[in-house]
Amino acid sequence: MVGILEDKDRIFTNIYGLQDWGLDGAKRRGCWNATRDMLAQTPEWICDQVKASGLRGRGGAGFSTGLKWTFMPKQESERPHYLVVNADESEPGTCKDREILRNDPHLLIEGCLIASYAIRAHTCYIYIRGEYVHERERLEAAIKQAYEAKLIGKGNIHGWDFDLFVTHGGGAYICGDETALMESLEGKKGQPRLKPPFPAGAGIYGCPTTINNVESIANVGTILRRGASWFAGFGRPNNTGTKLMAISGHVNAPCVVEETMSIPLRQLIEDHCGGVRGGWGNLKAIIPGGSSVRMIPAHEAETALMDFDSLSALKSGLGTAAVIVMDQSTDIVRAVARLSYFYKHESCGQCTPCREGTGWMWRVMERMATGEAEMREIDMLLEVASQVEGHTICGLGDAAAWPIQGLFRHFRHEVEERITNYRTGKPHVQGASLQAAE
Ligand SMILES: Cc1cc2nc3c(=O)[nH]c(=O)nc-3n(C[C@H](O)[C@H](O)[C@H](O)COP(=O)(O)O)c2cc1C
Ligand code: SF4
Repeated sequence: MVGILEDKDRIFTNIYGLQDWGLDGAKRRGCWNATRDMLAQTPEWICDQVKASGLRGRGGAGFSTGLKWTFMPKQESERPHYLVVNADESEPGTCKDREILRNDPHLLIEGCLIASYAIRAHTCYIYIRGEYVHERERLEAAIKQAYEAKLIGKGNIHGWDFDLFVTHGGGAYICGDETALMESLEGKKGQPRLKPPFPAGAGIYGCPTTINNVESIANVGTILRRGASWFAGFGRPNNTGTKLMAISGHVNAPCVVEETMSIPLRQLIEDHCGGVRGGWGNLKAIIPGGSSVRMIPAHEAETALMDFDSLSALKSGLGTAAVIVMDQSTDIVRAVARLSYFYKHESCGQCTPCREGTGWMWRVMERMATGEAEMREIDMLLEVASQVEGHTICGLGDAAAWPIQGLFRHFRHEVEERITNYRTGKPHVQGASLQAAE
């Protein structure tokens, strides 16, 4: 099934915070129901179910969640196993996990217990973005409720000893990378680690660790309650389930909404966001998966589906499904220059292509935005972007290169025109490209 999701099939039924976020409300919505039965099964059974559901990580990379869990050692040893939940959510445009944290925290807590059992961990850390103060307070209050009700903790009613801790970051985007997050969690400077070793072999404190996104984990209880095939019935093969999508920018009603995977992008915007400001004809481009994926122009957005395969075929990506809509009034070169500044600012500086490349790309992008750059610098910039891409310790290098590549793939002519105009005494004036809405 693809397209408008019915209320009865929503996992996150309190995403707008209209009902009680606490334990009583969560139980009324089905959370913590049959959790004991789930934990009566073997960890292998749980991994198999999650694999069969087709759930792919909701943190950006889209790796199979159930498969990732099977990488953990099959036996407990003197080295404890850990689950770490990534609630850093710092990618520009991405604002979905915070709705779970503040409005449906028990879905996450229940998911943490089930996932920890599946990977044989008795301890889980939730690493939450420093700026999410309200969300952290809500989450901590919900965890307290779960402890008091003996749903988690030592000797809990589910029969799997389990402790859950919340730790908060200092506000660095790089700490969303799983290895930087582990460093930060250990109290060190948040700089990514080289892989291998992979976290399942040596993660936090050198022990086997699985790291998952908030949404990935919060899905798990409902998947097991309603069945893997129910979840797999939404979307297209290899792109299954329901998905929280966050739409911002030039739409009439920006929102976070749970939809079926593979919903047409246009339908998502028309039906949930009141359409593009000024009508679909006023659309210029869309960044469909958070600031780090390549943008797609309006004519591609027309037929794109919101899933991993459709968007990667367009050389973009589903990422975090944070859809950033830009209408014709957008100075698209300036917008990408601003993103370049973000990546330069957030680079941890550990590896040379990223440390030097992000600053270099940002400075050139600034001159592209005014038109002061030389025409030959366009190819030079693309060459540098390709040297940064894939040549760094973590994915921030790719994230810095892709917006620039997306811009030149679709709007090179605009940059060239701007450079020409600058040289002929017609410098670019921001807003001059405003077109009448259709
Ligand atoms: C620079 C950078 C920032 C990231 N930020 C986040 C984040 O805020 N939240 C998140 O879940 N994953 C983030 N990731 C992806 C994580 O490294 C990791 O893949 C993810 O947490 C795994 O969870 P999943 O398999 O459930 O998606 C980031 C990756 C990079 C390279
Ligand atoms: S790619 Fe950038 S952010 Fe990642 S480790 Fe290298 S310098 Fe740090």
